[in-house]
Order: sequence, then structure tokens, then C-alpha cells
Amino acid sequence: MRKKTVKDVSVKGKKVFTRVDFNVPLNDQGEIIADVKIKAALPTIRYLLSEGASVILASHLGRPNGKVDEKLRLTPVAARLQELIGAEVLKTDEVVGSQVTRMAESLQPGQILLLENVRFHPGEKKNDPRLAKAYAELADLFVSDAFGTAHRAHASNVGVAAYLPAVAGFLMEKEITALSRSLHNPQQPVVAIVGGSKITDKIDVLHNFLTIADAILLGGGMANTFLRAKGYNMGKSLFEPDQVEQAKEIMEKAQAKGVNLCLPVDVTVATDLHAAESAENVPVDAIPPEKMAVDVGEKTRALFAEQIKAAKTIVWNGPLGVFEVPAFAQGTVAVAKMVAASEAFSIIGGGDVVAAVEQAGVSEQISHLSTGGGATLEFWEGKELPGIAVLQDK
Ligand code: 3PG
Repeated sequence: MRKKTVKDVSVKGKKVFTRVDFNVPLNDQGEIIADVKIKAALPTIRYLLSEGASVILASHLGRPNGKVDEKLRLTPVAARLQELIGAEVLKTDEVVGSQVTRMAESLQPGQILLLENVRFHPGEKKNDPRLAKAYAELADLFVSDAFGTAHRAHASNVGVAAYLPAVAGFLMEKEITALSRSLHNPQQPVVAIVGGSKITDKIDVLHNFLTIADAILLGGGMANTFLRAKGYNMGKSLFEPDQVEQAKEIMEKAQAKGVNLCLPVDVTVATDLHAAESAENVPVDAIPPEKMAVDVGEKTRALFAEQIKAAKTIVWNGPLGVFEVPAFAQGTVAVAKMVAASEAFSIIGGGDVVAAVEQAGVSEQISHLSTGGGATLEFWEGKELPGIAVLQDK
């Protein structure tokens, strides 16, 4: 990797402002549902502590819009981190201010201090230089391990780098290395799997995948817009009428480039999302007017299996059906098992598909499960992410 990491600098005796992505899902009681993101940051935190640094952690949680939201305090995160790391985690009640300064000043090597949710401060999302400077004044070094936030230019992951030497943590390094491997000279054949509800969210990634992939397998609601563009009657299926032309353009571009754009040949349809008992498998040219496509069909799964078997590199973003409804998650789960069984270098990004892989019990067999949603997508779009750009080059 081109960027410096914690291994390239001395951290002994230093206070390290460490941006992590502890944006974990919470239930209605405010309990953490999945702690993957906390676990993913542990190697960096452990390394810093073992090398004699004191660690000041900063993260956002949710989107509180620059105001204190009691439901989004990082208190449960501090408790979970403490359990996982087996050491005391001190926590502030504010993002910056006299309490934070005092606690950071008295922090000893080997100790951890977690700041309150940085998005409680109105300056965070605005990348206010005064806030960035206040973060920097707490520490001697900036380590970014928040890959999931790398597509945002905020004070705690980008602004602070103007005032402190900035290097990557191990999670950031792992994400950049894996994602770069999928984009730059990937081993061919490259198979991209793209799902999700809307083409609008995936236009840029589709155009970029057309430059690297040998085959693109399409599913989810966005495939409906492609099927409509091919002239099929979609019944009650959701699709984007204003994106039909865009879908045609992508199909033409794929043909011109010799990319095999695989659309569903059959779909699971149902009368509505609450009527799993009405589900049936139909060819795409026989979607009943009163039904909607909710998942990729059986023949489509077999077609996708052939492509996946032949792949040497697989990238996947977006579920292939209405994943929230268990009966309509079957296509996504089946494809997750195919990807897991393949020998290819595989990367999956985005919460829904990562959940499908976990549901299928095959996460261990995927080469890289990205902790980024939006960040992974923007990386695959070929954009430079501000949270990576600010890190020092080797
Ligand atoms: C994520 O969960 O994808 C990251 O933490 C970024 O969150 P955000 O979309 O609220 O910036």
C-alpha cells in the first residue's frame, strides 16, 4: 500500500487520536445488534497500546445532525469495547471541551479514552477547522482506521490531518489493499454482482465495473428497470421509469465492450411484500399484471452459478431481492453460498449482502467482507476518497 501505516511511525509514549467507525446498528432499546465494526478496529487499538501509546478514540454513531441525541451516545459502545478488549475504556460526555482536555492530558500509555459521538458537534460534518484543531491539540499523531467513513470529509477523519501527521490503521490498510486488488489489474475473469433497489445509486459503479468486469450479474429492484428497458411487462414490480434510458445506455456500452451483462431470465413474484404465500417462479416474459418481482428466480440462480464458478475475482454490492423479507432473501443467500464455494478472490461490500453472507453461515469463506457501505461503493466507482487522500504517502 502507498500510504503510511502505524507500523511506519513511532508511537511509543505518544497520544494517538484514532478515528474509528463504531457506527453500529442499535435496536429500539439502544442495544448493539452487531459489533463487527468494533471488532474490526481491535487490532489497531491493541497494537497502539502494546507499543506504549495512549489511545484517544473518536467515532460517529448515526446521524444526530450536530445536536446531542441521548439515544446516540457512545456509552454502550464503550461498554462493548471494554468487554472485547479486556481493559478499562474511559469515556467523555462531550466531543471537545474542558472535560475532554483534562481527561486527554492525564491519559497514560496503555490507556483508552473514547470521545462522545463526534456528530453531536455542529462543526464535525462541516469539517470546521477550529474543531479539527481542537481534536489535534489532544494528541501527537492521527491514525485513521475508519474506512467506513472515508468517503466523508469531516473534521475527525479529514480536517484533523491538517494539524497532525496522519497514518492508516490496520483495518484501513486491509480495506484499501483488498479493494485495490479488485480494481487494479484484478485476476480475470472478473464477475461483478450488482443488486439493490435503484439504478440511481449504482450508475457510477456500473460504469466503472464495465471497464474491469468480464460479466456483470444484475438483480434486485434495479434489474427491473433493465428488464423494462428490454420491453418486458413488469406487472406491479417497482422500477425507475426515468432510468430506463440509462439502463439502455449501460446495456449498449456492455455490448460494445464485450461485457456479459446477465439479467434475470426468471423471477420470484408475489402480490405484495407481505404475501409470501403468493410467491411463484415465472419467466421474465410472463410476469402476471397483479404481481411484483421480489427475487431472482431459479434459472437465473443457475445462470449466475456458471459465471461465478468461472470467476477468478468477484465483487458484490447490493442484495438480489427484497432481502428484508426472509422468503425473498433466498436468491441473495443462494448466491452468497456460490461465492463462498468459489476459489476466486471475493469482496463483498454493503450491509445487506454482508448480512446475507452471515445468514448463510459462509462469511469465513469470503476473501474480504468490507466494513464500508457508501465508502466501498465510492471506491468501486473509482473515486478518490478524502479520508484516504489525507493520509501520508510512504
Ligand atoms: C456507514 O455506516 O456506512 C458509515 O459509518 C458512514 O455512515 P454515514 O453514511 O452516516 O456517514
